[in-house]
Amino acid sequence: MALWIADVNFVLQFVILGVLSVGLFYKQRGKFVFHGSTMLIAVVLNAVSFFLVMWPSFVAFDFTVLDSPLKVVSLTHGILGGIAEILGLFLVVAWGVQKKMQSCIRRKIVMRITILLWLIALVLGILLYAGLYGIITI
Ligand code: HEM
Repeated sequence: MALWIADVNFVLQFVILGVLSVGLFYKQRGKFVFHGSTMLIAVVLNAVSFFLVMWPSFVAFDFTVLDSPLKVVSLTHGILGGIAEILGLFLVVAWGVQKKMQSCIRRKIVMRITILLWLIALVLGILLYAGLYGIITI
């Protein structure tokens, strides 16, 4: 059985996915300020989940020996999720500093990479949760 905090974190990841989807919807509609603000919320929620739950759990693993697929999933999830969060932080901070929408548009390649890494990390996170709490065996 999962710890309640792991369950809360698991549910939170889907809430964040919903927030990301709303952000992409605003982008589709050309409402870029709403898009940026929604992505800011996703980045902040992810940072909270990272510091409160994922980082303490991540450092409890011994990655010096990668002797199980679960560890490989955990390490890959951590690395890709960490990069996505850093890129997300960069995008919202850069927007906050420069304020001009034109400068955001120039960063759309970074946005594509961020969303891609975020989604891969999310899938690996679901796999990790299922593996850690006995739903599947990996
Ligand atoms: C976690 C942070 C963010 C993610 C994951 C993200 C994701 C995306 C994605 C996937 C696109 C579509 C790219 C394309 O059309 O090829 C996009 C477009 C765009 N984003 Fe973001 N975004 C983020 C933050 C921001 C911020 C902070 C701003 C500033 C307001 C912003 C402004 C824009 C603009 C203006 C476009 C349209 C670019 C264009 O089509 O010309 N984004 N974003």
